[in-house]
Amino acid sequence: MIKTSTPALLGGNPVRDVNSKPWPSWPIWGKEEEKVLLDVLHSGVWSYNGKWEKQFNAAFASYVGTKHCISAVNGTVTLQLALEALGIGWGDEVILPGLTWQATAATVIDVNAVPILVDVCEDTWCLDPAKVREAITPRTRAIIPVHLYGCFTDMDELMSIARENNLFVIEDCAHKHGGTWRGQKAGSIGDIGSFSFQLSKHLTAGEGGALTTNDEDLASKLDALRNCGRRPETAAGSSDKGAGYYEDDGNFIQSGNYRITEFQAALLTCGLKRMPDQNNLRDKNASYLNEKLEGIDGVLPMRRDDREEPAFFNFSFRYDRKKFRNLPVEKFREAISTELGLQVDTCYEPLNNASLYCPHTKPSRHRITDKYWDQINPKRFSLPVCEKVYEQQAICMHHSALLGITEDMDDIINAILKIRESAEEL
Ligand SMILES: Cc1ncc(COP(=O)(O)O)c(C=O)c1O
Repeated sequence: MIKTSTPALLGGNPVRDVNSKPWPSWPIWGKEEEKVLLDVLHSGVWSYNGKWEKQFNAAFASYVGTKHCISAVNGTVTLQLALEALGIGWGDEVILPGLTWQATAATVIDVNAVPILVDVCEDTWCLDPAKVREAITPRTRAIIPVHLYGCFTDMDELMSIARENNLFVIEDCAHKHGGTWRGQKAGSIGDIGSFSFQLSKHLTAGEGGALTTNDEDLASKLDALRNCGRRPETAAGSSDKGAGYYEDDGNFIQSGNYRITEFQAALLTCGLKRMPDQNNLRDKNASYLNEKLEGIDGVLPMRRDDREEPAFFNFSFRYDRKKFRNLPVEKFREAISTELGLQVDTCYEPLNNASLYCPHTKPSRHRITDKYWDQINPKRFSLPVCEKVYEQQAICMHHSALLGITEDMDDIINAILKIRESAEEL
């Protein structure tokens, strides 16, 4: 006979019947999106520098609290353009976390610099400032903190390390649209903020990205870089502050087409109006979940600092199999996923062994010298915390689950409790 407590994985009733109680879906849109997309369609202005792009850039800059926002085609290209605008390239090293999406590192190689993979803090999965300090060499030019799953590293400490060592900071905000550190929004703390608007993100047009900065000169370089090297429409003129782009030519610089379309900008303008309320709801639900997790032996919430106001992205927490009768983390994920009818994942693969971060598969592009070839070998980096988090601890759920009601959050907690009780059977 099947007991009520039998895990769904073994044929029992799941905690949640998703046929009668589906999870909130993503993306979210309404009549306004339909209207603006038709507006763009009928206008015939489908490409760049249109009214929607200008409107979105102004609105997003104001949201993030920076003087400038420049939209681009996605959040990979934005990282590449940020590095280029800062003049980072051959001979330079860039420090970034070993736990992130491959683009954070791959773009460093795409500008011919060397990504230096640094380990993370176990309770935030973000750059460990002490390890950043150890990784600095005379060649280091920049640090890219990634606010992974909406967490922050100690940004006070990171910014002082950067300032002491004269390093640029590019914030990878692909997971943090909103959220403040000491009252400053993510994307306004470092020299440049890089955002993704890919479908899985808080603000989305299917694909898309944006760069935020307070620096006039950087903004004008970024604008040119995303637009085939054309100087910005409103800020033409020459400048040669540091990055060396304008030395010979006051008008144009070498670049490609990384522009966003009016369709994307129109969707993003609508999404940005919805996002603050969605962020508040996610934060309320995630804080509720974290409070409940505190009371369960064997699961640990991610650390949130007193200096930050959160903007939770995909909901993540840590698992300890010892407290779950040695149930492997893979089995735990599968079991709660089945109880909830919700995809439950691990985190990104550590970049020293990630299937999609493999620079040595492109020798014709990246084997510039034998020395460089060795320097960009991801396997040379030791990342014990990233490996531990990935192999033993990480539990991640898509942020749309946080757009439900308190009862939905109780289902998540009940699923964890049920698995804890039935761990032996599994
Ligand atoms: C941390 C991080 N950085 C950069 C990116 C790249 O963004 P995009 O997919 O828009 O190119 C992503 C995308 O998932 C990401 O998660």
